[in-house]
Amino acid sequence: MGPRREQLIFVRDFLRERAAIRVGAHLRRDPLARLHLEEGRRDPYPLYEDVRSRGPLVRSTIGAWTSVDHHVCNEILRSRSFGATGEDADHLAGSPQLSFLEMNPPDHTRLRRFALPTFSPKSVAAFAPSIQQVVDDLLDKTVGDEPFDLVGSLAAPMPIGVITRLLGVGDADADEFAHYGATFGSALGGLQSIKHAGELMRAQQALRRIFENAFEARRRDPGDDVISRLVSTEGSSVRPEEMVPLCTLLLIAGFETTVNLISNTILALLTHPDAWRRVAADPTLVEAAIEETLRWDPPVQRTARFALADATIAGHQVKKGEIVVTLLAGANRDPAVFAEPARFDLDRPNKSEHLAFSSGIHYCVGAPLARLEAIIAVRSLIARYPGLRVAGPVVRRQGSLIRGLTNFPVSRSFVAVPAG
Ligand code: HEM
Repeated sequence: MGPRREQLIFVRDFLRERAAIRVGAHLRRDPLARLHLEEGRRDPYPLYEDVRSRGPLVRSTIGAWTSVDHHVCNEILRSRSFGATGEDADHLAGSPQLSFLEMNPPDHTRLRRFALPTFSPKSVAAFAPSIQQVVDDLLDKTVGDEPFDLVGSLAAPMPIGVITRLLGVGDADADEFAHYGATFGSALGGLQSIKHAGELMRAQQALRRIFENAFEARRRDPGDDVISRLVSTEGSSVRPEEMVPLCTLLLIAGFETTVNLISNTILALLTHPDAWRRVAADPTLVEAAIEETLRWDPPVQRTARFALADATIAGHQVKKGEIVVTLLAGANRDPAVFAEPARFDLDRPNKSEHLAFSSGIHYCVGAPLARLEAIIAVRSLIARYPGLRVAGPVVRRQGSLIRGLTNFPVSRSFVAVPAG
């Protein structure tokens, strides 16, 4: 298919989808459709409760099944009858290509196996001093008495610094890399407009150029990073045309998610002052705060699966080719699994049963890295500013797939330490 025809099909599908969402949301009050509008961006949690009140698996007017039931979501994510892509799923111009995140076995297994060693708990632990260095350098810049933006000063640049080093993209390209990566990441929850699709295509081309330069550089001068491993095994486990999408997946997954885990955790703590005080007095509670944030307000709110065969789920017939949207953040508030699910509770015994990192064969490869980055960032921030306060209105990011902030003004009011 030529690029012009691809673009026309994209525009047609985009307009059709927007129309279906508006009709579903306004005329039919469909919670899945409403999730795509302002309401879902601001506060999706009442919409998840609406879905829950309709049953464990619900047919949406916008053509998909949906669920907030923990058991049902987990079953679908772990089932071999469902896949991350369907037989007829096709990539349209402008939609991000995210390598094995969107593949089924055997390609998924082959590419995931390539990525795993870099992100094993052992490899990640060895990276802790580097992460601490990135965090300390960023916090050193937050001097003075003026309020600062927690996202721009720490939560966003920190994971970018870490993933750039892990991938092996040279410092010279790092700023451009961050800029195009953010444009690309902004499209994860769906394109906002046709202009947005154009920006995305340009970002995709720019990232390809940066990665291809990095492949060249690492062929000449290999290091201890993902791109060096990629070029040294070229053609064996990863095909040449798979290299750019694989790097793009690691880049986007690496910096569009952890940024939100850090800011969502700090926001949860600052809006629950008792929890903040407890964590400030006892830094070993940072891990509990991060885990409870992953349950209570997770960065990735939903994912979807295609039925690869007819299946019976919660008494409903799901036909081959149909899509099920698993609302992970809704499942994390299932009262059958979590007592008083709407409460942010550091002492919750089973908080790690959340589905924030999904479940089954696509379970997040970067979970150990994300947890470690968040622990180091949150612990260092609280140690430096135990009297941190929200200093103005927060701004939420676009879309409702990824939940987080784009602006988070904070001020570091100093706590006087009593003498003696
Ligand atoms: C708080 C941070 C993060 C969250 C909440 C998160 C969440 C998720 C979720 C929900 C999935 C599965 C999606 C699905 O089932 O369709 C996923 C997959 C993935 N994540 Fe993460 N992620 C985070 C950080 C990271 C980091 C730091 C990396 C590494 C750079 C990473 C790399 C990946 C990869 C490669 C996959 C695809 C796994 C597969 O398809 O087998 N993630 N992540």
